[in-house]
Amino acid sequence: MTNSATLSLNGEEYTLDVITGTENEQCIDIQQLRNQTGCITMDPGFGNTGSCYSSITYVDGKNGVLRYRGYPIEELAENASFVEVAYLILYGELPNQKQLCIFSRSLEEHAPIHTNLEHHFSGFPKSAPPMAILSAMLNLVACFHPEVLDVTSEGPEFDRTAALLLSKVRTISAFAYRSATGKPFNQPNPFLSYCNNFLHLMFSDPYREYVPSKTIEKALNLFLVLHADHEQNCSTSTVRVVGSSRANLFSSVAAGVCALWGPLHGGANAAVIAMLEDIKASGKPLKHYLDMAKDKDNPYRLMGFGHRVYKNFDPRSRILKRHVDEVLKELNTSDPLLEIALELEQETLKDDYFISRNLYPNVDFYSGILLRAIGIPLNMYTVMFAIGRMPGWIANWKELLEHNQRISRPRQIYTGHSIRSFVPIEKR
Ligand code: ACO
Repeated sequence: MTNSATLSLNGEEYTLDVITGTENEQCIDIQQLRNQTGCITMDPGFGNTGSCYSSITYVDGKNGVLRYRGYPIEELAENASFVEVAYLILYGELPNQKQLCIFSRSLEEHAPIHTNLEHHFSGFPKSAPPMAILSAMLNLVACFHPEVLDVTSEGPEFDRTAALLLSKVRTISAFAYRSATGKPFNQPNPFLSYCNNFLHLMFSDPYREYVPSKTIEKALNLFLVLHADHEQNCSTSTVRVVGSSRANLFSSVAAGVCALWGPLHGGANAAVIAMLEDIKASGKPLKHYLDMAKDKDNPYRLMGFGHRVYKNFDPRSRILKRHVDEVLKELNTSDPLLEIALELEQETLKDDYFISRNLYPNVDFYSGILLRAIGIPLNMYTVMFAIGRMPGWIANWKELLEHNQRISRPRQIYTGHSIRSFVPIEKR
């Protein structure tokens, strides 16, 4: 459905199309604005800028709604495996039994990594951040599978490449951990589920096969499902920007890993735990931390609070909060950080600063506590996010090519010097 908006500028009136999405969300189409008026629009951080049409994920930040391909996140979190969700996000429909079987088999087929690639892990210092290793290794994998560099968005080549990437990201991540901790690599076991295979790659030892409990497998599955896509966030937009130059899928998602790394995005899940640990160790009252976060002259922020889109509860954080408690009970353990987190959340819900700015816990607030319960080391948290987000990145790269989207190239308003003449060095 198309209607229009009128812009009045310098005494002239311009008509702009208004485009309406499936859920009645509206946007003013400014693609011809510069040609018509000579003006560009300004929106640093792209908070109000639509950069693409997409049929993958729907987020309604005002009402706390998240759906993958139309399916509510609550239903998927309750009922679906990560592999089913990955298939849904990539191909638009839930798989039937046969499709799921073929897809799962393909994932397991691509799990091992080339022996020569294994040697590269020892080239990283022990202290290398796993996100740096993951990003570098994703580009490296492509060197060992040169055929993936030419892959487009459809056909059996795409299917194979997507499965290869979804599977290799898991093996690379676990190998990064094993290498940094001086432990021998475990080879993937094709008879295990996606989640259990990852846990085996991470935690099995030569003389002791790691067998996770059902609770741990379920918790990891939930974590991955909740992170599988989130429309045009910072890392996904990065994947699209890089892919828009027609860069290959591997280099595009490697860039996504780098964008995810930052503490304002995926890096927040580790930063939350560091913050809660700090609160616990300091013994200072929560008010001290709230005051720091509210102080305009202090860069301190409460990690895991706030979101560009959600101005209500992040539905993923609601689901996680409920399940973290269940998981800890089922594992018959407790986590003092959960108590601090719950208290902190309660304090912010009563505080005008947080209420007036709609700052609620986001997905990263409770996910770290779940990862701790699973036994994932802190420096691997953002890597876990990257494994989960891989279906979303791949699907957005695919969609970008299917829509034959133009190369991303924003404009700017120049605020530097006006023209001036070169001054020879002896006269400066
Ligand atoms: N603690 C304290 N104040 C905050 C916080 C916070 N966590 N987040 C935002 N604010 C304040 C800002 O200072 C600003 O206040 P002002 O209006 O008085 O200037 C107001 O709330 C709006 O914040 P912005 O930074 O403009 O919001 P933006 O949409 O640009 O940023 C972001 C969103 C990056 C998530 C921000 O809320 C933040 O830094 N949160 C902490 C980091 C975090 O948890 N990141 C994970 C996000 S979820 C994800 O990426 C998976």
